[in-house]
Amino acid sequence: MEVYSEKHQIAVAINGFKAKKQTIGLVPTMGALHEGHLQLVKKALSQNDKAVVSIFVNPTQFDNKNDLKKYPRTLNQDVTLLKTISQDRILVYAPTVEDMYGGKTVSEKFDFDGLEFEMEGRFRVGHFDGVGTIVKRFFDIIKPHKAYFGEKDFQQLAIIKKLVEKYKIPVNIVGCKIHREVNGLAMSSRNTRLKPEYKKAAPFIYEILKSAKDQFGTKSAGKVMEWVEKEFSRHDLLELEYFLVADVETLKPVKRKSNKKIYRAFIAVYAGDIRLIDNIALN
Ligand code: PAJ
Repeated sequence: MEVYSEKHQIAVAINGFKAKKQTIGLVPTMGALHEGHLQLVKKALSQNDKAVVSIFVNPTQFDNKNDLKKYPRTLNQDVTLLKTISQDRILVYAPTVEDMYGGKTVSEKFDFDGLEFEMEGRFRVGHFDGVGTIVKRFFDIIKPHKAYFGEKDFQQLAIIKKLVEKYKIPVNIVGCKIHREVNGLAMSSRNTRLKPEYKKAAPFIYEILKSAKDQFGTKSAGKVMEWVEKEFSRHDLLELEYFLVADVETLKPVKRKSNKKIYRAFIAVYAGDIRLIDNIALN
């Protein structure tokens, strides 16, 4: 399996595939790969000749320096995992910060029609400018036919679709279902940093989401939110940052339910100093 660290090298390899009319699926990641990431890679391989997996902990999307510093970096282990899926159809692009940013580690500024101001955008200032900057660069370098993103980061997926639409980038964005541990906890690279007591407590998040979904059938969004807030206020370990029900088109919190709209519940929780996010389809 080839592991590239420079954009010029991987661009040469990509041009070779394109000359042979081979299709390319891109899976952007920050590494510390888990089964959730691997599902995206498998989907990319099922729909394309080659899959490019980028592994890059993107500094400009972190609003918290400590989180950036502590983010797990496990390239060798990641490559070993990817080899279990395919030896010859996956390329890894693991650039340096210098290769991506050329000494100017700053974000471009984007207008995602307001999607960037909701939820994660509200709590992680500048986050989506960082994501937009890096993903747009990956699209420029790899020029994939398709690119794969998880619903685990539903807002990110919506923003990438908006990026592609606004900049008329010729790539098909494919959304992939959330992959969970057996106990329901959404898989995340950050889960490896959970202390044992928090790891044990964290499946509570998905339990609450499932119950919120049940209640949404008969109760107002406001009542469901109140219930969730109360449940977390009683919890010893987990601290709720936000829970809300939003329209999937605008990501704006729902005021009055309409049966013409599709809703999802979104949640962010602190388990000690680890921030976890999750979401669930409601109707
Ligand atoms: P990262 O958190 O590594 O996630 C990479 C991709 O894997 C994202 O599209 C994310 O939604 C998906 N993913 C993570 N956990 C998942 C799970 N449990 N089930 C399904 N999909 C899951 O998201 C990023 O990196 C970065 O913001 C990135 C897009 C790479 C830009 O830097």
